[in-house]
Amino acid sequence: MKEPKQLSVSAIENGTVIDHIPAKNLFKVIQILGLDHIDTQITFGTNLESKKLGKKAIIKISDKYFEDEDINRIALVAPDAKLNIIKDYEVIEKKIVEVPDTIVGIAKCMNPKCITNFEKVTTRFKVVSKKNVALKCHYCEKITSQENLQIV
Ligand code: CTP
Ligand code: ZN
Repeated sequence: MKEPKQLSVSAIENGTVIDHIPAKNLFKVIQILGLDHIDTQITFGTNLESKKLGKKAIIKISDKYFEDEDINRIALVAPDAKLNIIKDYEVIEKKIVEVPDTIVGIAKCMNPKCITNFEKVTTRFKVVSKKNVALKCHYCEKITSQENLQIV
C-alpha cells in the first residue's frame, strides 16, 4: 500500500490557490500580482514535481480573490496556471488564465530604439498572437516574441 497522499503546502480555509506555475517564473508571478504588497497570509512551494511542467510552483493566498483582469496578467509567464477558489476549505471554482488582448506594463519592448526603453513611458502592447505569445508595441510597432520576452 502506498502512503496516503499529502499536500506539500497546507490547505487554506479561504482564498486563491494558483497551481501549475513554471518554477522558474514563481517570482515573476509574485511581482506581477504585487503579492509583496499584500498583508494576508501567503504560502508557496516551488520545485514541486509536475508531469507536465517538470518543476512547478504553487502559491496560496489566504482571504484574497482576484479580478480576472488582474489574474490574466500572469498568462505571459504562467500560461498553464490553474486557479482554485477556496471557500471553507472547499474548492468552489476552478479557472484557467487567458492571455489578454492588450498588455500594459509587465513586458519590455525588444526594440532598443523604442521610446519605452529610454524614457519613463509605460510599455503598451497589442497581443497579435496568444498561442506563441507575440506582442506588438503601441509605440514603435515592433514585435516582441516569446523568446525575446522580458518582464520589467
Ligand atoms: N487546496 C488548498 N486548500 C484547500 C483545498 C485545496 O490549498 N482547502 C489546493 C490543493 O492543494 C491543490 C489545489 O488547491 O493544489 C486544487 O485542489 P483540488 O482540486 O482538490 O486538487 P486536484 O484535484 O489535485 O487539482 P487539479 O485540478 O490541479 O488536478
Ligand atoms: Zn516599442
